[in-house]
Amino acid sequence: MLVMQGIVKQFPGVRALDGVDLDVRAGEVHCLLGQNGAGKSTLIKVLAGVHQPDEGTIQFDGKEVRPTSPIDAIRLGFATIYQELDLVDGLSVAENIFLGHEHARLGFTNRAAANRAAAEVLDRLGHPDIRPSTEVGRLSPAAKQVVSMARALSHEARLIIMDEPSAALAHDEVANLFRIIRELTAQGVAVVYISHRLEEIRDIGDRVTVLKDGRTVAVGLPARDTPTSRIVSLMTGRNVEYVFPARGGRELGDEVLRVENLSARGVFSDVSFSVRAGEIVGLAGLVGSGRSEILEAVYGARPASGRVLLSGKQVRRGVVGTVKHGMGLAPEERKAQALLLDQSVTANITLGTLPEFARFGWIDRKRERAEARRLSEMLSIRPPDPERPIRTLSGGNQQKAVLARWLLGGRRLLLLDEPTRGVDVGARAELYAVIHDLAKQGIGVLLVSSEVPEVLGLADRVLVLREGRVIHEGDAAGLDEHRVLDMIMNGKAA
Ligand SMILES: Nc1ncnc2c1ncn2[C@@H]1O[C@H](COP(=O)(O)OP(=O)(O)OP(=O)(O)O)[C@@H](O)[C@H]1O
Ligand SMILES: [Mg+2]
Repeated sequence: MLVMQGIVKQFPGVRALDGVDLDVRAGEVHCLLGQNGAGKSTLIKVLAGVHQPDEGTIQFDGKEVRPTSPIDAIRLGFATIYQELDLVDGLSVAENIFLGHEHARLGFTNRAAANRAAAEVLDRLGHPDIRPSTEVGRLSPAAKQVVSMARALSHEARLIIMDEPSAALAHDEVANLFRIIRELTAQGVAVVYISHRLEEIRDIGDRVTVLKDGRTVAVGLPARDTPTSRIVSLMTGRNVEYVFPARGGRELGDEVLRVENLSARGVFSDVSFSVRAGEIVGLAGLVGSGRSEILEAVYGARPASGRVLLSGKQVRRGVVGTVKHGMGLAPEERKAQALLLDQSVTANITLGTLPEFARFGWIDRKRERAEARRLSEMLSIRPPDPERPIRTLSGGNQQKAVLARWLLGGRRLLLLDEPTRGVDVGARAELYAVIHDLAKQGIGVLLVSSEVPEVLGLADRVLVLREGRVIHEGDAAGLDEHRVLDMIMNGKAA
């Protein structure tokens, strides 16, 4: 159905695509894999008419095509769900879904008709709960993803491109997404699917193409029969032997955080636990189990009853106070909450901690730059040039930059919400090592992740949450994934 050959795309100073080939068949799910910065998003933006390639050809149904704009790509039958969702916050769900449609063609004469049509698509997606008249800015990330998907469906596309669609979704929502993908492919629609979660590839993928440094290193491998180790070594050019750093080698110090009977009506109730210096405590649970909300309440960004003590002292809550007390929160929706797109990587890393770089009222730019450089090396942010505008980094590298902000010096307690979202397998291992190092230096870490193996692999102690309550607390070493999933899903306390 689609054949791309020799695609080259040069940005100032970066050859993002250096001769990429891709062929996609009708009715298949074709997975596009590669490390952060490999060129995946750039390739699909060429298809979507966002970028014009410098070289190469695209054939669709045997005819040469060249999408010159997003509208042009839609007319060709390509729909794209971007990594950075491109919805308009101020418009309603229905308006977003039909944005760019010629309403006349669909015969919409009024808002009510558009709302009805939107409700139909949302229903088909298994989300009658999302109201077409709601303003998109008020929706959760997962709901926004569904709206984006509804828009792709409303165009009756023949090729749907999804750039990390599952990154913002919970377990059961991913299952729903896969159900929709299977329905679409059964009707002959082709799907190009990008993800850093390799187990998803096995589940939904038919064939796999791997990119590395802007080149195709493997074309059309069978998704189910190619060993993960082979895919990882194609992506990284090396064998990633271990993933999690070995446990132990850390001294636990005094209690840095104590939470007593923390409750927020309808969200979580009676949550108590503590974190010691040098300890990593993980919170496992589904989206909606209260895990992110507990982190926010500990940080003081969400009202809750109960007590929060830092190093034995009850602190006045509120964001400013907590920063002063050495607490850092890396929120879940890092990109939306936290990026200054036109500013440099350095500015994005040191944002919010600037007072630390100020001496006698002058900002110590040299020290600021040195810190930013150290952290971007530590997290291997690519390209390794902290003075670049962050807009020009790949999605995963932007994530790492925002995370780096919270790793800046002077913290005693780190609250990390989904720290590896959007981060590739190789960099993930590095990030795990960084988190361990911080703990080794005596920092307490409270970690939330929707990936149970990540919680079990990283944390010393695990709290399992269900519907806002702690149903189990114990050493990570004594738990396995299966048992934790059973507790999370079925509420069976161990
Ligand atoms: N607008 C731009 N200007 C300059 N360089 C860019 C621009 N967009 C992307 N790049 C560079 O092109 C390369 C490929 O980026 P791309 O976003 O395609 O990676 P990716 O494979 O999607 O990675 P990720 O998994 O992190 O999303 C990176 O080196 C990136 O820094
Ligand atoms: Mg990308």
